[in-house]
Amino acid sequence: NAGGVQATAGTAVTADAPAAGGALTILYGTQSGNGKAVASQLQAQAEAKGLPTKLVSMADFPVKQLKKETHLAIVVSTHGEGDPPDEAEELHALLGSKRAPKLDGLKFSVLALGDSSYEFYCQTGKDFDERIAKQGGSRLLDRVDCDVDFEAAAETWRNELVDVLAKELSAVHAPVQAGVSANTAVSATASQYDKKHPFTANLLANQKITGRDSIKDIRHVEIDLEGSGLAYRPGDSLGIWFENDVALVDELLTLLGLDGTTEVKLDDETFSLKDALISKYELTQLVPSFVKSYAESADNATLKGLADDATALREFIGDRQVIDVVREHPAKLTAEQLQSSLRRITPRLYSIASSQSEVEEEVHLTVGVVRYDAFGSEHLGGASGFLAERLEEGGDVKVFIENNDHFRLPENGDTPVIMVGPGTGIAPFRAFLQEREATDAEGDNWLLFGNPTFTQDFLYQTEIQRYVKSGVLSKVDLAWSRDQAHKIYVQDKIREQGAELYQWLESGAHFYVCGDASRMAKDVHEALISVVAEHGGKSQEDAEAYVTELRRAKRYQRDVY
Ligand code: 2AM
Repeated sequence: NAGGVQATAGTAVTADAPAAGGALTILYGTQSGNGKAVASQLQAQAEAKGLPTKLVSMADFPVKQLKKETHLAIVVSTHGEGDPPDEAEELHALLGSKRAPKLDGLKFSVLALGDSSYEFYCQTGKDFDERIAKQGGSRLLDRVDCDVDFEAAAETWRNELVDVLAKELSAVHAPVQAGVSANTAVSATASQYDKKHPFTANLLANQKITGRDSIKDIRHVEIDLEGSGLAYRPGDSLGIWFENDVALVDELLTLLGLDGTTEVKLDDETFSLKDALISKYELTQLVPSFVKSYAESADNATLKGLADDATALREFIGDRQVIDVVREHPAKLTAEQLQSSLRRITPRLYSIASSQSEVEEEVHLTVGVVRYDAFGSEHLGGASGFLAERLEEGGDVKVFIENNDHFRLPENGDTPVIMVGPGTGIAPFRAFLQEREATDAEGDNWLLFGNPTFTQDFLYQTEIQRYVKSGVLSKVDLAWSRDQAHKIYVQDKIREQGAELYQWLESGAHFYVCGDASRMAKDVHEALISVVAEHGGKSQEDAEAYVTELRRAKRYQRDVY
C-alpha cells in the first residue's frame, strides 16, 4: 500500500492556475524520529506530484525566513507539560512574542503530535496553529492532532494536504505515475526491521543495579541482536514492543464477563481477545478517552460525571491503570466495546546504553522499573514491568532501532564533552564512553551523575571508576541527593564547578543532558544559563543568547523524558 499516493494524473495540478513561484516548505520539530518521518513522507508524496518542496528541521530554519514562505506544513510534537521540543523552541517563542512577523501571505497546515495521557495534549501544535493564524496566515487544512498511535491520522493529513497543494502550486515536473513509495519511512538502518516490523530478539541478562535498600529498582538489561543486521549509533534508542501481564488480562476478562477465546479482528488479522489484550492494547497507561468511553459502555453515572469534568478526570486518573477503573466499576461489556475503549499499544523507547564498537551484536539498556502500591495492589509499568519481571532470560522481545540524530557525539573525537545524566539518564553516556574509548577519542570527557545515595544507587560504579583510572573520564561529579540533610543535585554541581564548566564551553565542549524532563532538565538549563552569566560576565539576556547559540550549533543536546 503506497499510502494513497496514487498520483492522480496531472490534471488537478494545472486546473486551478496557481500563484507562480509558490513552494511547499515542510518544517518539523520533534524529539523522536516520528515527526521527521511524517515530514519526509509528506515531502515524498508532494514530490511525486511534481510539487516544489523543501524539508527543514526547525532547528535549521532561520526564523527571518518565515515571512518569505508561501506554503507551510508544520509537523511538531509536544512534551512534558505542553513544552515544544528543543528544535522548535526558538520559532515557537518568536511566534508567541511581540516580534512575531505579519504572515498575511502564508497558507499553512499543522500536524500536531502528542500523547493524550498528558494534560497539555498537542499543545505545541495548537500554539503554532493559533499563532500563525493570528499573524494573518490562512489554513490550507485544519490542524490534525495525533495521539501516540499517530500513523493513520498522519496519513490522512498527508493525503489531504497534498491534494489541496496540488491545486495551489505549479508542478515543477510531471507527476510520477508509479513506483513511488511515499510511505518509505526514513530508514533507520539497512536492516529489514523497523517499528512496524520489529526484530524478535533474545533477552540475555536482566540485572538489578541498585542496592537492596534503594528506593529505586533499576535494571541493566542486555539484549541479543545477533542475525538481525540491526545497527545503531550512540545516542539512538531501542523501541520495545512489550506484552501486558497475563494475570492482569485474565482479571480484566473476568470482571467484564468476557471470554478470552473470542475471536477479534485487528488490522485484517484475527486474534483471540486474550492475545489481543496481551500484546495489542494499552492496559497500564490510563487515558481520559478510556474513562469516557467505558463510562458510556458501562452506563455508569459516576464515571459519566467524571468524563464531563476535565479537571476531575485528570485527578481521578492519577496513578490509576485500566484495571483500577474496572475493579471499581465492573460492568458487562462486549469485546467490541472493550476494544473501542482501549488505546492501541505503542512501543516504549529506551536510550541505548551501549556502543556497538564495544558490545557488537548486543544492545544494553538501563531500565527504571515503574512499581508502586495503589488502590490496594502493586502496580507495574507496562514495558518496564515486562522487561524486569515477566521476560525470562532467553525469552523473546520485539525490538527496533529509533535513530536519534539530535543526540550525537561530536564528529571530531578531540572535542570535549560534558554529560549530565542523573538516574537512568546515565544510559546514553555509557554508550558515549564506550564509543570514545573504542575510537581512541582524545577529547576530554566530563560526567555528572546523580541519584539518591552513594551506597545504593551508584549505577555502573566499577565501569566509571575504570574509566577514571584509564583516563577516558577526565572528570566526574556525583550528586547524592539523600546522603546529607539537604538535597544535592547535578545542577548544584554545575553551579559549584561553574568556572571550569564555562572554560570547557569556551574551548568548544558539547553539553549533553539526559533524564527527567519535567524538573531536572529545566533546572539544569537554568543552571547552565546562570553559569554562563556569572563566569562569562554576561547579562541574563546575553547568557540566554549564548545558550541558544550553543543549541543552534548543536553543542547543547538533550534526550529527556
Ligand atoms: P531525590 O529523589 O532525592 O529528590 C535521580 O532520580 C536523581 O535525581 C535523584 O537523586 C533525585 O533526587 C534527583 N532529582 C530529583 N529532582 C531533581 C531535580 N529537579 N533536578 C535534579 N535532580 C533531581
